[in-house]
This record gives sequence, structure tokens and C-alpha cells, in this order.
Amino acid sequence: MEMNENSRRSFLKQIGAASALALTAANAEALPSSAIPPQAQQASPAPGQSSQAATRPARMAWWHQAKFGMFIHWGLYSVIGQHEWAKEVEGIPIPQYELLAKQFNPKPNAAREWARLAKRAGQKYMVMTTKHHEGFCHWDTTLTDYCAPKQGPGRDLVREFVDAARAEGLRVGFYYSLMDWHHPDGAICKTDEAARRRFVDYTHGLIRELMTNYGKIDVLWYDVSWPLTAAGWESERMNQMVFELQPDIIVNNRNGLEGDFATPEQRIQAADAGRAWETCMTLNDSWGFNRFDDAWKTPKTIVGNLATCARGGGNYLLNIGPEPDGSIPKESVTVLEAVGRWLETNGKAIYETERSSLEASVNANYTRRGNTFYIHQQFWPGHTPAAEATGFFKPEAVIAIGGLKPKALAARLLKTGQSIPFTQDEFTFRLTELPLEAPDQPATVIEVECDGEPIIDHEAMRALWPRYRVGVS
Ligand code: GLC
Repeated sequence: MEMNENSRRSFLKQIGAASALALTAANAEALPSSAIPPQAQQASPAPGQSSQAATRPARMAWWHQAKFGMFIHWGLYSVIGQHEWAKEVEGIPIPQYELLAKQFNPKPNAAREWARLAKRAGQKYMVMTTKHHEGFCHWDTTLTDYCAPKQGPGRDLVREFVDAARAEGLRVGFYYSLMDWHHPDGAICKTDEAARRRFVDYTHGLIRELMTNYGKIDVLWYDVSWPLTAAGWESERMNQMVFELQPDIIVNNRNGLEGDFATPEQRIQAADAGRAWETCMTLNDSWGFNRFDDAWKTPKTIVGNLATCARGGGNYLLNIGPEPDGSIPKESVTVLEAVGRWLETNGKAIYETERSSLEASVNANYTRRGNTFYIHQQFWPGHTPAAEATGFFKPEAVIAIGGLKPKALAARLLKTGQSIPFTQDEFTFRLTELPLEAPDQPATVIEVECDGEPIIDHEAMRALWPRYRVGVS
């Protein structure tokens, strides 16, 4: 699958802030085994893990159909508006940073706006940062005063989020950063067992509150496990508690365990067949609000990425970074609304699809459901001067696919329902008599029904097609 490189990501990598997976691996030997309680040291899967595997297909069914979710990064860093890593990247001392907690004063029910936008965008679930690396808790916790009800907001922002998502019929997800730049034991827990004990109790306690006080939660999205290993976090016990409290929940893989799904970040990469995966990605280059980051992706890029995820059987979790008052940057609104309009017509080519091995090209992406495949034409062919020399491109605006294996039975434009004439031989499948202008933006989708599972292998015929002689007369 194609890779989507992101400069911010490589920057964070350079400064040692790589993904939770990398951090976990790098710190795998960091905690002395004497500091790890015996029940957390077992190598074979704990009893909880096998029962989680047994219930996985049922727990994940809605998520596989959902395909598209909204990620929300919002916290004290939004007040600064210079990326969610500002504290560490700019070296802001904790007493200075804490002052932001009083100034963080969002408008009431900002989450309603997010949920309405998610709905318009065709997103089926929302995942909000309940606590990011900065350590500030958005909910009413008894375990710290560094939380929204006791600081500037004066109310429970997690409650508002949950109510807003449910009001729009969207599934609810909690992002939770294990790494904590604020808690006194957040770093020393790596080498000091008493600190680790306190910090792990604190962490499990916070997660317990989140899993207890807000009704049914659909996703728990752990992040960065620095500085402990899964054993140090007692992640088996953590997940067991989560599943006891929320039997239908799904959890990701960033607490050092496999969890229910993999989380490639800022790139699209399918996991091995049988393993669920979700690409999370920013709309510009920052997760948290970044006033000066103008590297916005276009609707074309987002629609293309969504199709690429669907092609590989994965989900796409796309981020917004609301301003400190909770408003959504207008550029994000514009892009998401355009994607939503496209999905109104073309949702079938995304939501109802399954993993495929169709080979995409620069001009077109493909998704599949059963024996039907969808051509997502990103760059419409229009008129080519080559039509004057060869009949291949006549009548004008021909979409041709080399190496389509099964026989096509019918083709139609999703935008208009209009059926499209085509020809097919062993080398090429040609859709003809297409309009000169692209009927839909940012991609036009054509549904093609076949007599077997669609396979597109452009290269397969390279050695097979008849070659006549050297040169052209
Ligand atoms: C990285 C970043 C973090 C962001 C997360 C989203 O781990 O450190 O800021 O929340 O990715 O996946």
C-alpha cells in the first residue's frame, strides 16, 4: 500500500518522540524485572486475552462497517495554538504551563459542533483526547485537581463530548495518553518502584473512572506508553479491567499489547490479513490546534486516502484540532463538508466494501465488495489528442484498465445511475461513451459488477500480449 510521508512526524521522530510502538520497543528492557509484579511478567497470553480474541469479531463488526471516524485533539495546548507537543518542544516549565488551565475556557457544548460536523462528513465514530501527554484531564476525576471541572472550564468536557456524539448517533471513543508530562511520578516511575506503583494505580484509576462514569464506550484509544513496558503498566490487568467494565469495547495496541487493531500513524499501511487496522491522520500537519500550520490536505487527498484505507480493509481516523473555545478551524470544516457531500453519493463504494488486493494507479483507486468493484477516478480522462491517431481512445473519454481478471457484466456511474457501455478482451477493459467532464468531484465512482472476484493486475499481461515485429512502419 502506498505510504503518506509526513514531515511533522519525521521531525518528532528525530527529537525522539516516535510512536508508542517504537517507544515500547526502545524501552523494552528499561524496567528492572524486580520492579515488575510477578503476575505482569507472564509471557503466554493471559486468560483475558483469549476471551478478548473470542469476542473480537462481534465487538468489531460495527467498526469495520464504519470505516471513517473523527479524531479530536483538544487540550491546554490548544490555548497556545502551536501544536500539542508545545510543552516539550518549547521547554515550557510546568508552573508556567499550569497557568493555561485557568485560561482554558471553552464555549458550552462545543462538542455539539464537532458531532454535527462528523455526521455531515459521513464519519461514524468520534475519538476525543480525554488526557493528552500534558496530563490535563477533561473529565470530573477524584484523582487530581488538574482537570476541567476544577479549572477554567468549570465543567466535565468528557460528559459534553459523550452526550454530543450520542445525540448524533455516533459511536464514542476515548483517547488516553499513558505518558504524562505533569504527574510527579510520570518519568521517575521507570526506575523507582514505589513511584511506578503510585503512577500505575493512578493510571488504572483514571481509566476506571472513564470506563465507569459515561455509559457505554465503544473505543479506548491508548497512546504513548513511555516510559514503561506493558509489564510495567500492568497492561494485561488494565485491559482486563476495561473489558470487565465495558464488555463490548474495542481497544487499540498502544499500551504495549496487541489489542484489537493496529494504528499506523500518518501513513496508510494495511496490516496482515486478519488483523484490523486504522490509519490516523491529521488534516494539516498538527494534531492539536496550530494557528500557523497551513499545510491543509485537500478533499481530493482525503477522499483518496479514505478509498485507499477501504481498499486494504482498514479504517481512517481523521483529526480535527479545535481552537481553545472549541471552534473548528474553518479549513477543516470546508474539507470535511466536501468529503461528506461526496460520501452521500458514493458511500456505497466505501462503507460496504471489504479488503481487496486490487492494484490502484495514479489516476484511479479501487474498492471492492464481493464480485463488484468501484473505480474511483481521481483524474478524469477527457479528450486526448491520441484519439486522432488510435481508435483505442474513441469515442472520447475512455477509461481503460489493463489486467482486469474476471468478466465484467455491468457498469454504472454512482453519481447519476447511468449505465456505461464497455468492451473487454483479455488485456483491457474499456469504459466508453463517458461524459467529457468528470461527473463528480473530487473523484467519480463507477460501479462494475463482475462474474468473479475482481482482480486487477496491470503487470500480468506484460509477457502475454502478442508482439509483432521490431519498429513501426
Ligand atoms: C503521536 C503524538 C501525539 C498524537 C498521536 C496521535 O503519538 O505524540 O501527539 O496524539 O500521535 O496518534
